[in-house]
Amino acid sequence: FDSLKGRGVWRYQRMIAGEYKKIVSINEGGTPLIRSCNINKNMYMKYEGVNPTGSFKDRGMTVAVSSAVSNNYKTVIAASTGNTAAAAAAYASRAGIKSFIVLPKGKVALGKLAQSILYGTTIMEVEGSFDVAMGAVMKLYKDLKVVYPLNSFNPWRLEGQKTIAFEITEEIGVPDAVIVPVGNAGNIYAIWKGFTELVKAGVTEKIPRMIGVQAEGASPIAKAFIEGSQSPLFTDNPETVATAIRIGKPVNWRKAMKAVRESRGTMLVVSDNEILKAQRDLARKEGVGAEPASSASLAGYYKALDRKIVYPDEKVVLILTGHSLKDPESMGKAETKRILINPSFIEKIILEEVNENDG
Ligand code: F0G
Repeated sequence: FDSLKGRGVWRYQRMIAGEYKKIVSINEGGTPLIRSCNINKNMYMKYEGVNPTGSFKDRGMTVAVSSAVSNNYKTVIAASTGNTAAAAAAYASRAGIKSFIVLPKGKVALGKLAQSILYGTTIMEVEGSFDVAMGAVMKLYKDLKVVYPLNSFNPWRLEGQKTIAFEITEEIGVPDAVIVPVGNAGNIYAIWKGFTELVKAGVTEKIPRMIGVQAEGASPIAKAFIEGSQSPLFTDNPETVATAIRIGKPVNWRKAMKAVRESRGTMLVVSDNEILKAQRDLARKEGVGAEPASSASLAGYYKALDRKIVYPDEKVVLILTGHSLKDPESMGKAETKRILINPSFIEKIILEEVNENDG
């Protein structure tokens, strides 16, 4: 690592496969690794929410869009639950090329939809889940060679995302476990690949246990893993508050299984209530705002501690994949005190609350 210069994803260009005639970057990566103060001092949060469009997708998009323009593509397309769409739209704008995104109608968090509108892409909405959108894009790119697909079956996306492993290692060495929310299942594989390449390069000696977390209503990989079956039973009707990972037919499931098995990790299922509680804990105990899908990492950490899959004295990194502002509706669901007040009563309320807390 010592000989590398710069910051962010392209600091690791020597470890990123592919040749690039042009690099399309908005200074993604180089995100903070925040140490927990109040939940467990051995827990760290990789805060991907501070990427240019607010999620880890920017790491993959800088590489994939660079590959697209280096290969003279003028048009890109992505199916998305929202974050990939926002990132694809932003990086296509930056590259000066056209983008199309395919979204599940009515199931994309408000912040993400607003971003796609702002960055100026063509938004196409389909009835049904992300899986319908994904199926359409897979078919299209095989038939129509003029559009470049930006989904995570595109290997360049994963090349960018693996830099999460490099940054963590540079900062705290190799942790004991890394907990990742799993949807289409590209990211957990990408991060595992990053750690594996460091071992192969002789930089490190071990890889962390990769722990994947899925939401109860969208957990085909986790269920297959728990039941010990070879392949997941896909679902046509995935449902969860964590709309980012509301996916019934993850295309990268084989890769995710490999990452989890070879690292001696595991897969966990968490409920929507556990996700929302974890989201509040991140915000209210650590001051860190994450969207629901990302908060599944903390819900998974609690469960892993409970089941002695990880121990309190182990160094564990949670990947907080997207910013809380992505999903204002989920934030608004948290219970809070909110009072319409005549200004002359403010002092009284404060004194009451302070005394209540002291007593
Ligand atoms: N967390 C967030 C915030 C996401 O947006 C996603 C995926 C994941 C976790 C899961 O990552 O798919 O690699 O397992 N979002 C995709 C999208 C599907 O379209 O934005 P994965």
